[in-house]
Amino acid sequence: MDARASANAPKQEIRLADYQPPAFSIETIDLVFRLEDEVAVVEATSNFKREGDVRSLTLDGGPYMSLKRVALNGVELGGNAYTLNRESLSIHEVPDAFTLTVVTELRPKENTRLEGLYFSGGNYCTQCEAEGFRHITYYLDRPDVLARYNVRIEADKAKFPVLLSNGNPGAMGDLAGGRHFAEWHDPHPKPAYLFAMVAGKLGCLTDSFTTASGKEVTLNIYAAEADLAKCDYAMASLQRSMKWDEEVFGLEYDLDVYNIVAVSDFNMGAMENKGLNVFNTKYVLASPATATDADFDHVEGVIGHEYFHNWTGNRVTCRDWFQLSLKEGLTVFRDQEFSSDMTSRAVKRLDDVRTLRMIQFPEDGGPLAHPVRPEKYIEINNFYTATVYNKGAEVIRMMHRLIGADAFRRGMDLYFERHDGQAVTCEDFVCAMEDASGVDLKHFRLWYSQAGTPSLTIKRERDGTDLILKLEQQTKATPGQGEKKPLHMPVLVGWLDADGNEIQPALEGEGVWTEDGCLLELTAAHQAYRFRDVPDGAVPSLLRAFTAPVSLDHDLSPTELAFLVKHDRDAFARWEAAQYMYGDFLLACVAGKANVKDVPSEISTTFSHLLKDTVTDRALLAELLTLPSEIAIGQRMDVLEPSKIFDAREALLAGLAKANSEALTSLYMSLKPGSYDLKQESKAQRRLRNALLRYISQLPGADDVLRAHLDGADNMTDRIAALAMIASSDMADREAVLEAFYTEWQHDDLVIDKWFAVQGQSTRKDAVARVLELMQHPAFKLANPNRLRSLVTSFSMLNQARFHEADGSGYRLLADTIARVDKINPQTAARLVAPLGRWRRMGEDRQVLMKTALERLRAQVESDDVRELVDKSLG
Ligand code: TRP
Ligand code: ZN
Repeated sequence: MDARASANAPKQEIRLADYQPPAFSIETIDLVFRLEDEVAVVEATSNFKREGDVRSLTLDGGPYMSLKRVALNGVELGGNAYTLNRESLSIHEVPDAFTLTVVTELRPKENTRLEGLYFSGGNYCTQCEAEGFRHITYYLDRPDVLARYNVRIEADKAKFPVLLSNGNPGAMGDLAGGRHFAEWHDPHPKPAYLFAMVAGKLGCLTDSFTTASGKEVTLNIYAAEADLAKCDYAMASLQRSMKWDEEVFGLEYDLDVYNIVAVSDFNMGAMENKGLNVFNTKYVLASPATATDADFDHVEGVIGHEYFHNWTGNRVTCRDWFQLSLKEGLTVFRDQEFSSDMTSRAVKRLDDVRTLRMIQFPEDGGPLAHPVRPEKYIEINNFYTATVYNKGAEVIRMMHRLIGADAFRRGMDLYFERHDGQAVTCEDFVCAMEDASGVDLKHFRLWYSQAGTPSLTIKRERDGTDLILKLEQQTKATPGQGEKKPLHMPVLVGWLDADGNEIQPALEGEGVWTEDGCLLELTAAHQAYRFRDVPDGAVPSLLRAFTAPVSLDHDLSPTELAFLVKHDRDAFARWEAAQYMYGDFLLACVAGKANVKDVPSEISTTFSHLLKDTVTDRALLAELLTLPSEIAIGQRMDVLEPSKIFDAREALLAGLAKANSEALTSLYMSLKPGSYDLKQESKAQRRLRNALLRYISQLPGADDVLRAHLDGADNMTDRIAALAMIASSDMADREAVLEAFYTEWQHDDLVIDKWFAVQGQSTRKDAVARVLELMQHPAFKLANPNRLRSLVTSFSMLNQARFHEADGSGYRLLADTIARVDKINPQTAARLVAPLGRWRRMGEDRQVLMKTALERLRAQVESDDVRELVDKSLG
């Protein structure tokens, strides 16, 4: 039965324009998993109904399973009744309604792709989004086919005491030969990508949540027994998420149990399978000794994200994968709002904007640029991108801003009222928002189909007592999209008088004054806004709260920027002003137009003013004191010069440290940590103290401070901050410190990931050699995505100066690694490609080296995943 066309022809491009509704629907599917030592036998019995007018039924199915049996209405089919291809099974003639039984055999222990059914840390688990279910059985593996699932799992009782699937638990019991079974029933029809099954030996943390309508839900977090002590924060986060979604969106949970399983081999962060989320351990396990404050925040954010998918994704799902942002953009928006409410809204916003700029802007400006709703793809896994997720969330956020919070909530209600239980499109979502608000979003929709980051320029013009803001927007061509149109975007601005007081000069033109500032609605390429009677010396605060995902250019002077850093009440605009102030100077230095030793007085005055601890939110203060990242600076250059950027930034850092050594040290000393807790103020204090340490690390005697910071730490936030600086330093006993850290934490995978990461990010000249050496370390595992990314992604994405080493050694390292990972796990290999695709941004020498690396990789590629991205990158 394995006589299939064996040719491994490259996959065909799939287009949104070709969408056809499914020819069959499936009412129920009964799945039986028989887990043996080496194989898993899967029996799937589904009830089909014809919806279109095709005679034959074509099911999706991948090349790694073997078909054992097909029966239609209980009658076994002979080989001439169907055709088996590499990626499908076609049954030639089927009646209008019928039951189909398909038996497949899988080898989960050989599955290193971590997609479909696989084995991780002694446990079986599944990952079906986007198209993993087709590696479990032959099926209509598309999101617009929703069925009710009944699952039975049979396995050895001693080895796999825990048997889980979606929905609510049913019967369980013992079987002959030391085996047992468990049944699960999910009452909510769902697409195959939301199916999950887990079998293993796992500990369990149990708690509960009582919904607003009084239903008690059992909450379980399953993890390795030894890790259970690190699950409390995830549990509390889950409870907070459930409460928040009730309070903010009126959405309650809809099953009796909510199960989460933590696994250590996982391609992404987590997966929202109905009632059975599967998580990367990285986003579940957290303890003060092993997790940083940022890790705790990420746990809360990802727990929230997957929980919020229960409505935005699961109850209302996507019609096709082009609509991915329908669930992801919206759910990211929801998790961002949740985290804002749980932590500090101001700091959360600038963290999110920083992520957007670091990851999404480069994507949008490079060969992999695509719209929030892509129009074509070869491998859908390549479209789980920052554009779909993070820019998608910005698009939702703009709608929220344009129609207002109340109308947005009514729009959400209407969306669920109309589409609960359906598979829909981004268009359906926008329609609900329009109908609930009465606001016309016709022009706004362009954000879904037009790729590229718009540039927004704001210039001022005096006209008597009036001040005119002249806005201009423009988007550069992206691959396949030459012509760009102006977008509809909200631009929030404010005015400060010469004393720093907020003023509200009357606006003539389209826009309204709100509590946060004046909301302008830009729709044309050029638009002018006249503000009446603006006093002399008044300064505009532009693009407050980053109300649109654009790159902003303006005519504010260094003095005005310094003024905004000091006085603006919008935290984002304040931080942005600081970023521009530092960034403008660094760019001038890189261009040879300024000397990094001559720090402008605006910068030095602002910096020393900030060090008087004048900002109440110390997390914000930490960010105001932090120089823009090398990536952020590079984005403002036509031709990227990584080593010059690095040198200028280091020199400014050292210069500021020297000029302010006393203030830095005394503020640092005054922040002596009390007893550890996770209160906002404590986290903010650690953030500030570690930001100061970065400056202090440039001063004489730094070695002792760094060592004391490390040795005195009672938490991972402080420990890893010091270790990262040590790893980049010339400290004499650097190696010994790293070695001691390894010895102390070698039993803890997530901590050892950090140990690899700080070395991958080490800016020391020997970084490339060091990364190569670490790839030979016994603890390095190419097949484990967390471990791989901890070393290789930190190197290629964050270590700009060393990745772009002039001899091309960084590029070769990455290309060779991708080629090796491609044979093990194409999805994860593909996620490493992007940095090599940025060659157009580099000088000629590096362009050649990067293209050579890509071509070398092209010659070795086996998967469609990596091929699609390499081909696009070469252009
Ligand atoms: N839908 C998941 C989320 O955003 C992420 C996801 C997509 C995923 N594809 C995956 C996770 C593959 C693991 C593997 O929450
Ligand atoms: Zn998601």
